[in-house]
Amino acid sequence: MASERISILDGKRILLGVTGSIACYKSADLASKLVQAGASVNVILTDAAQQFITPLTFQAVTGHVTYTSMWHTDSSGGLPTHIAHVGLSENADMLVIAPATAQHIAKLANGFADDLICLTALNCRCPILVAPAMDGNMYDHPATVENIRKLQERGIIVIEPDEGRFASGLVGRGRLPEVPTLIGHIRHHMGREWGGLRDRHVLVTAGGTREAIDPVRYVTNRSSGKQGYAVAQAALDAGATVTLISTPTGLPVPINATAIIVESAQEMLDAVLEHSNAADALIMAAAVADYRPLNVADQKIKKTDDVLTLDLTRTPDILQTVGQQRKQTGQPYVLVGFAAETQDLLKNAKSKLRRKNVDYIIANDVTRDGAGFQADTNIVTIVGADGNTLSLPQQTKSAVAEVIIQRIAARLQTIPHRQRK
Ligand code: PMT
Repeated sequence: MASERISILDGKRILLGVTGSIACYKSADLASKLVQAGASVNVILTDAAQQFITPLTFQAVTGHVTYTSMWHTDSSGGLPTHIAHVGLSENADMLVIAPATAQHIAKLANGFADDLICLTALNCRCPILVAPAMDGNMYDHPATVENIRKLQERGIIVIEPDEGRFASGLVGRGRLPEVPTLIGHIRHHMGREWGGLRDRHVLVTAGGTREAIDPVRYVTNRSSGKQGYAVAQAALDAGATVTLISTPTGLPVPINATAIIVESAQEMLDAVLEHSNAADALIMAAAVADYRPLNVADQKIKKTDDVLTLDLTRTPDILQTVGQQRKQTGQPYVLVGFAAETQDLLKNAKSKLRRKNVDYIIANDVTRDGAGFQADTNIVTIVGADGNTLSLPQQTKSAVAEVIIQRIAARLQTIPHRQRK
């Protein structure tokens, strides 16, 4: 995921502080992935970090000089001033300290200014993310707990470390999270700063529902969940609070989304109704079964007859139910459905748009190569309730998701402030 450009990181200036921990090896990959995502990355290494990794490593992956001394006075690195800690902080959209040792967390919590990372952090007015890395006993120590609390009270974002095996051989909580997790936090907090959905709650559904036949079998469809998860990630990148209601897909839940895992259309309906009145937008990317077995066998059905007939009955239409309800409640303000069609794409999409009372239908002709189920790309036409349509060329599901999220953000802009939660 991180080897492609990420819009919310593209062109952003990230200052990466690296302190002395064996987890420094992950920081080189983090710097590299941020650069690949489109960010410009400046790195500060402490003396202790240089015991584990060299300035040249970061210089090679970022294309910028690596800063190692608070006495550095050279503006040739493109900083706005030759005083390093001022130039670096003025130049940054975000300061990320990863790994952050117990020592550096203590120094930051107490306002120390005796190395370039601490000095720069004091001068920073941009968001600061701190990713602790240390052995479990150190992380749990009351002194560290207190220092982390102090940082959080000042608005510094502290990323919870992972649990697992340390270099010491012991097991506990204190491991620096893997790079995709760190990037997930960075992009979400960038979105919180600059995204178009900063104070919004977005509900997304994804995956194909499973309708039980008996305790071991179910009826489902070909949805992988990729499009819905991409929508959830795009909403996070725009700074939204995201609840993702999904069937089991095997896809990683986007960092900072709250995932609710459901199986059937009925379970999805219940979960959607529980959250939709508090949501600013609902995007139904899930492929919800239209029919389910009328009777679910208590025991595994035995292979007796040559032909087995299943009676099917209609499932609830989730989107239509929410579309009807919001005529009374007014929420969600924006309602988006998808239409998976194999014929008469626009005619069917427009009919669903009216019937389900939604603002946009994202119509995909699922018979086309590179579109619809399971593919990494999609080809969609956005049909608006205002009669406007926008046909998009084949592009990644992430890119499609971004366009949808931009539409939603623009629409929410038009909602008068008094109506907002
Ligand atoms: O998951 P992927 O592999 O990435 O594939 C993406 C996708 C093809 C599943 C996705 O892009 C898509 O088209 N999702 C909607 C599939 C679908 O159920 O389409 P539909 O035309 O049957 O339904 C129209 C809308 O009503 C959809 O928003 C659907 O979520 C909703 N619906 C449908 C039936 C039902 N009982 N309740 C619903 O809410």
